Amino acid sequence: KHHIILDVDTGKDDALALMLAVRHPDLEVRAVTCVEGNTSLEQVVANTLRVLDLVGAPSDLPVAAGARTPLVEPPRDASMFHGANGLGDLTLPEPTRTVSELHAVELLRRELLAAEEPLTLVTLAPLTNVALLLRMHPEVRDRIGRIVMMGGSASRGNATAVAEFNVWHDPEAAHVVLTSGVPVTLYGLDVFDRVVADDDVIARLRASDDAVARTAGELLAHEFVDPRTGERKPYRKIGDAGAVVALVAPELFAFETWPVQVDLAPGLGRGQTLVDRRDAAGEDLVHGLRGPWPLVDVALDVDPRAVLELFL
Ligand code: BDR
Ligand code: CA
Repeated sequence: KHHIILDVDTGKDDALALMLAVRHPDLEVRAVTCVEGNTSLEQVVANTLRVLDLVGAPSDLPVAAGARTPLVEPPRDASMFHGANGLGDLTLPEPTRTVSELHAVELLRRELLAAEEPLTLVTLAPLTNVALLLRMHPEVRDRIGRIVMMGGSASRGNATAVAEFNVWHDPEAAHVVLTSGVPVTLYGLDVFDRVVADDDVIARLRASDDAVARTAGELLAHEFVDPRTGERKPYRKIGDAGAVVALVAPELFAFETWPVQVDLAPGLGRGQTLVDRRDAAGEDLVHGLRGPWPLVDVALDVDPRAVLELFL
């Protein structure tokens, strides 16, 4: 069993990831921490509590609220894709569970220190909470076995031409995490964008006699309005849930280990993850500017059908 902590900005696809993580027999979720990202921190917490109720997570599973703003820049939400409430405007019942009185950083610290073995952090959101944890409590670093991070891209971006939303929202935080020495698996847009539910998958979910599956179907069916054309468009990606799949079924992906850095400079490239896929990487002048680049396992290819089946 993998013992994990999820860091989320729920978010339609964070909701799908929570559902899968709570229900997957090979995973034990020890805590969930929330960060501002797709929507406001308050809304992220409310959405997370509601989704955990729906999926029947243990009532004592701790959920904590964390950072409200990125380390340097003001927050910028993604309501365009996720709807005004972050959950595709789906209304779930008021939560029965409550948020912890602890800050997310403190909950992370306590869970990591209390665990009998190092935990895996699955980060599905901007990395502000995890960066603050690593800076405030560097002693917990060795208690993190691995970080599976939805973030970045070795090709195009989504928030900008080159930057993926979670890294773009808090590039400094992503930099802190990538250079921390904790092993990182990057689940970026190269695979994230390819796991797309088709009509059949959505119909199967919507017709299910399981309320969680039906909600997953509604989340996947939610359409967003393209700001360029005003058209309603399907999104349909299982998104962050794919990062959970990458943890339980890595054989469905192809990973390669490459040096990775985040572009922190102001300008058009800010927030881009530079994945240096050159053969002789690591020996040139550019690398010399910041010392050796951290080596990261980057998911570059995926069997989308198999991932969808596992998700279903
Ligand atoms: C990431 O950004 C958010 O909008 C999604 O929840 C996902 O974590 C994709 O770039
Ligand atoms: Ca997310």
